[in-house]
Amino acid sequence: MPGLCVIGLQWGDEAKGKIVDLLTRPNDIVVRYQGGANAGHTVVTGGQTYKLSLIPSGILRPDVQCVVTGGVVLNPPSLLAEIDGLVARGVTVGKNLTISDRAHVIFPWHLEEDRLTEGRAAAGEAIGTTMRGIGPCYRDKVGRASAIRLGDMYRDGFRQKVERVCAHKNVLIRALTDGTQPPLDPVQICEEYRGYAERLRPYVADTTSLLLDALEANRRVLFEGAQGALLDVDHGTFPYVTSSNSSGVGIASGAGVPGRYLQKIIGVVKAYSTRVGGGPFPTEQDNDLGQHLRTRGNEYGTVTRRPRRCGWFDAVAARYTARLSGVDSLAVMLLDVLSELPEIKVCTAYEIDGRRVDVFPSHVDDLRRAQPVYETLPGWQQEISAVRDVDDLPANARGYLARLGEIIGRPVEIISVGPDRDQTMFADRSRRAAEVAG
Ligand code: GDP
Ligand code: IMO
Ligand code: MG
Repeated sequence: MPGLCVIGLQWGDEAKGKIVDLLTRPNDIVVRYQGGANAGHTVVTGGQTYKLSLIPSGILRPDVQCVVTGGVVLNPPSLLAEIDGLVARGVTVGKNLTISDRAHVIFPWHLEEDRLTEGRAAAGEAIGTTMRGIGPCYRDKVGRASAIRLGDMYRDGFRQKVERVCAHKNVLIRALTDGTQPPLDPVQICEEYRGYAERLRPYVADTTSLLLDALEANRRVLFEGAQGALLDVDHGTFPYVTSSNSSGVGIASGAGVPGRYLQKIIGVVKAYSTRVGGGPFPTEQDNDLGQHLRTRGNEYGTVTRRPRRCGWFDAVAARYTARLSGVDSLAVMLLDVLSELPEIKVCTAYEIDGRRVDVFPSHVDDLRRAQPVYETLPGWQQEISAVRDVDDLPANARGYLARLGEIIGRPVEIISVGPDRDQTMFADRSRRAAEVAG
């Protein structure tokens, strides 16, 4: 059975893009199935750095089909800019990219609503979104009445739909801004978006049938998760989450494929923790150590350049998200960032109101009160970014990896010691990327 999945197990930015690129071969198809341009996935190869937002990280291999399914929300001008940027750098983007006609479209009113909602949040309660209109677009999808899908843009009723939605949104925007904001102009928006639709036309198709045909024909498909499982709208640290199912449970619904095809799930974690935006983060180090991790790991958002909050590895959270996502094995990333620390801490339980808890709390108020219980492991003093064989890692680095795998209850299969495609090794030294991906 042909489905391989890559899922982030923390709060996003676990370096999923690097793993997807690494494992793209021997897959035939790479799929983005949820989220949107809130994602920023980085691939570094041959001295070049590629930042991908909506286009699957398989795009750098021209013989691979890249698919964006109906589970994503897309902003046509930013998608077109991403395509243009890749083409300008010599990357092939043509028949190798297919976009679902079921994908929901982000319009200017969604960006406006994102700004207004965040701007009106009570002090300390803002989600800290990426301001890409993601939440408002998913809200309209679920609400249905104001939703517009990519396929709608090629139909006769498109103009009337935009006029109707604009009228509705103008009432909301007027009320929320005391009339200080100029109203949306449906004629201008319609004209602008018709232009985008024409440019996107060659890529648009029914990706559900495409993927079902491929899977039934035993072709290999790699599903690229965006965000991380702790940002899952149903199972994450609600309400400080994104608006899609970013844990493993979202793959089937987002992609439109039955779960029985999802053969292997690789959970990606950083060797420590980061979070961008608001919400509780029990192991956060808002101190010199956090700043050290931020500097050494270059922890600034790929999309918004916001400094990422940094802290120790939270194994309570990772054990939960690995179970939730049905993870088979782990990819531990950015291990090099921990080099030269005298000791390294891992959170193995929480203390909440004096009680020891090892289950990840379902309510954000409990997580807010959680005090981490740490296990302290010895660090290693050598640089490891040039190491290519697990046996050449310092014993304490190997000990750290083994302990993470033990607490999470999943084997560590891939280890990354730098951003480049080559700065990667497999726990089983005899294995190659193609075998791990197969
Ligand atoms: P994604 O959203 O999960 O794909 O992750 P991002 O691309 O947002 O963030 C991961 C960052 O870490 C990127 O800048 C990568 O180039 C970088 N990176 C990936 N693996 C490693 C690693 O092993 N070590 C270091 N130092 N950086 C890495
Ligand atoms: P990748 O795929 C890290 C966070 C935002 C915010 C919350 C909601 O690169 O790992 P949204 O704009 O989605 O409504 O914001 O989710 N967030 C991410 N954090 N990596 C991401 O994607 C993220 N996508 C959204 O910072 O806290
Ligand atoms: Mg990212």
